[in-house]
Amino acid sequence: MKTTVTTLALATLIILTPLATTPADLEKMAVRQSAMKFIGAQMRQLSGMARGQSDLNAPYVAAVGSSIAIIGDSLSLWFDDLPEGYPHADSEALPVIAANRDAFLAQAEKMADAGRAMASAPDALAASFQSLSSTCRSCHSQFRM
Ligand code: HEC
Repeated sequence: MKTTVTTLALATLIILTPLATTPADLEKMAVRQSAMKFIGAQMRQLSGMARGQSDLNAPYVAAVGSSIAIIGDSLSLWFDDLPEGYPHADSEALPVIAANRDAFLAQAEKMADAGRAMASAPDALAASFQSLSSTCRSCHSQFRM
């Protein structure tokens, strides 16, 4: 029974592969968009602290820096094997990501490094917030519509 299910699943995969987007692609899209939304929400919180509009909460800053580092280090999983004809209509990921994968991953690494720097010196948020924000802009300007 298990073999039949596996065979069926494989057959379905093979049949679906030529299509532009498979259920697995849609799941990856949902995961990376949620991760980006999470980062965006944290950055809005941090921006007030970085400008001195709200009290600096060092443990929170450190936690955000570490979370962003983890996301940066795992972005490759959620942008791999972008199929022909990508992107999906609901995605803002540009098709050039596939052809420029190394450059894309280098941008992800810069964000992860900036997150680690923020986590290791949370009191220096004013500076680390600027460096981290510049990694967002840099990647989006090349790889996001
Ligand atoms: C390595 C490249 C890269 C870096 C670095 C990056 N992003 Fe993104 N971001 C993307 C791509 C590509 C998309 C579009 C994803 C999709 O729609 O499939 C995106 C989408 C988003 C979205 C929209 C999510 C949605 O679907 O509503 C937000 C918000 C966002 N990013 C925030 C940030 C912030 C804040 C940072 C920096 C701390 C950042 N991103 C760093 C590549 C990057």
